[in-house]
Amino acid sequence: MNKRTQIVAGNWKMNKTYQDGRSMVIDFLENLRNTDALAILCPPFIHLQMVSNLIKDMASVRLGAQNCHEAEAGAYTGEVSVEMLKSVGVDYVILGHSERREYFGESDALLAKKIDQVLAHNLRPIFCCGEPLDIREKNDHVAHVAQQLEGSLFHLTPEAIAKIVIAYEPIWAIGTGRTASPAQAQEMHAAIRQLMAKKYGEDLAQQLSILYGGSVNAANAKELFSQPDVDGGLVGGASLKAGDFATIVDSF
Ligand code: 13P
Repeated sequence: MNKRTQIVAGNWKMNKTYQDGRSMVIDFLENLRNTDALAILCPPFIHLQMVSNLIKDMASVRLGAQNCHEAEAGAYTGEVSVEMLKSVGVDYVILGHSERREYFGESDALLAKKIDQVLAHNLRPIFCCGEPLDIREKNDHVAHVAQQLEGSLFHLTPEAIAKIVIAYEPIWAIGTGRTASPAQAQEMHAAIRQLMAKKYGEDLAQQLSILYGGSVNAANAKELFSQPDVDGGLVGGASLKAGDFATIVDSF
């Protein structure tokens, strides 16, 4: 058995009112059995303080944001800084999600700056990578993900890399109900770990938690998480149901 941290992060995306989000977190905390794995709740910005208050006594539940700005502070109307996130108890920031890349034009280079900013404040990035369907069909998925890792992470020192959580999210599996098979997930997670080992050494690569994302649910989580290089999940839709999300956290 490896000693990597097992993590399930719930990415709410742009869902839940304040009231609905609050009831769901209370419900989730009541249902949560597994306190060995880390559960990271990633609600929209305006819910962060409320969730922070609700989880403050739970060592195994942490707070994550879905984005941040790359600058320290200043005239960036509508944006949120890492310092602000930290001030309400955020520990993790999701970066590089395919929806941010596609709808908001976030490039590998911009993501590198955001990662630097998150690390500068001692928070931890959850860095997402993953290929679209046409790339998978051409069998170019490993090369595609390698380029994403290289473009946003490979400037980091080994000390910085040790703070990163990687999430592999094949775009064709996000929100489609078409999850990667456990074998497909394992193949890519092992490839990611190998790429990290080549750059940073085997010891460091073995410490990195690599999460799978894309149509993870209460029924398929156990088999996915049982793969040797799958250290947990980044969950969208199923993180919006308290009972399902608690079951997923319990699936190791
Ligand atoms: P779904 O679990 O809804 O497929 O979303 C995955 C995802 O994008 C998590 O970041």
